[in-house]
Amino acid sequence: MTFTATNNPSPSTVAVIGVGYVGLTTAACLAHLGNRVLAVDVDAAKVERMAQGIPPILEAGLGDLMREGIHSGRLSFTTDSEAASSAADFVFLCVPTPQGADGAADLRFVEQASAQIAPHLKPGAVVVTKSTVPVGSAGKVVAALGRSDTAVVSNPEFLREGNAVHDWLHPDRVVIGSEDRTAGERLARLYEPLGAPIIITDPASSETIKYACNAFLAAKVSFVNAIAKLCSAVGADSVDVIRGMSYDRRIGADHLAPGPGWGGSCFPKDTSALIRIAEDHDYDFALLREVVAANQAQFDFVAEQVRRAAGGDLEGATVAAWGLTFKAGTDDLRDSPALSVIQRIRAQGATVQAFDPTRPAGSNGHLAGLGVQLFEDPYGCCDGASALVVLTEWPEFRGYDLSRAASVMTRRAVVDTRNMLQPAVARAAGLTYVGMGRT
Ligand code: UDX
Repeated sequence: MTFTATNNPSPSTVAVIGVGYVGLTTAACLAHLGNRVLAVDVDAAKVERMAQGIPPILEAGLGDLMREGIHSGRLSFTTDSEAASSAADFVFLCVPTPQGADGAADLRFVEQASAQIAPHLKPGAVVVTKSTVPVGSAGKVVAALGRSDTAVVSNPEFLREGNAVHDWLHPDRVVIGSEDRTAGERLARLYEPLGAPIIITDPASSETIKYACNAFLAAKVSFVNAIAKLCSAVGADSVDVIRGMSYDRRIGADHLAPGPGWGGSCFPKDTSALIRIAEDHDYDFALLREVVAANQAQFDFVAEQVRRAAGGDLEGATVAAWGLTFKAGTDDLRDSPALSVIQRIRAQGATVQAFDPTRPAGSNGHLAGLGVQLFEDPYGCCDGASALVVLTEWPEFRGYDLSRAASVMTRRAVVDTRNMLQPAVARAAGLTYVGMGRT
């Protein structure tokens, strides 16, 4: 049954605190399910733009859902957390939990938001921690709230950037962690229209599910990157080997594509946090430490492949880079593997000329200090380059004219870290092709 807002038997009033890609997706989707949603953010300018239906991030379908919610009067944006939290049956905390210098997740914003809403919550209100928080954080939120007549429930998100709306409305499962069973069941009713399995457990188990999932997916990607290197060593073709693996339903095709390493705003933060959580509980999660180390080694490996493709010495060379975002389908540069590789290439004295379809501004914080020259087109950035490296799997790269790229390069080699290009097409364009475990 496809759910429409009008047949929601018992709509709720929801406040969403923190309107980033999780908060905004949650707000827009809960409004789509028929609830009245007040989305709160501290950034007045951002609130103003969102109130006009302009999404601050690139997420497929998000703008339409926002405008549907605004026009129906169910979704509104405000900087007033007091008014929003005093009207709410549920308050979703979707504020950032950045990685601290010591690897632990920083709960400062969660605790600040909790203290801010505490005096205004209705008796019986349910505070929902959707931000990724270390195991055992529910107690800290309870303490920050200082209330005995409200409930705190863990409800981790499993949204992939670039697919956030789809993943929110079509979850594999909903996870709810609550000491108070009634509060957990009340929250479960909010998700019932989605028709997905709902797991109600305790907060520690709920928080652990989130970290365990991301750590496992990161391990799966690091494993397939290692398999691609093995394929190179033994003369196997990684595309066929991975295809042969993926038909095994216990392995599956997702998160089984080689790349420059994994990144983004979640994997690096969550893997470090889980290692730290284990340490804090006297468990040395050596396997996960090796997954993180293997990922750093992948950045080194890719930079080495570029050095070799460019003729062996990057000092004074020019390298062209296609793709800066941490993966295709998003404009997010946070902890992008592309930037980690470019940093290594720049450190060997190369000039890096880059093109990305999202055209990030040169003033973007994540590019500052990297010394990357941004180009408006994929061919201009190849001008004078002794190697081209493909770092993000933007589908449009497959359609680019490799002969035209090669014609302006001083050495004609392409390092395809995403195995996106056809080796025969690259070679026909006059390029030496270096893939990830491709024969
Ligand atoms: C991830 C989880 O998938 C999501 O469930 C969680 O809620 C947040 O973290 P996201 O960070 O958006 O989502 O990225 P994801 O699509 O998982 O990719 C993470 C990194 O792994 C990216 O750098 C991506 O390029 C890389 N990756 C992913 C690969 O290199 N190969 C793959 O096959 C898949």
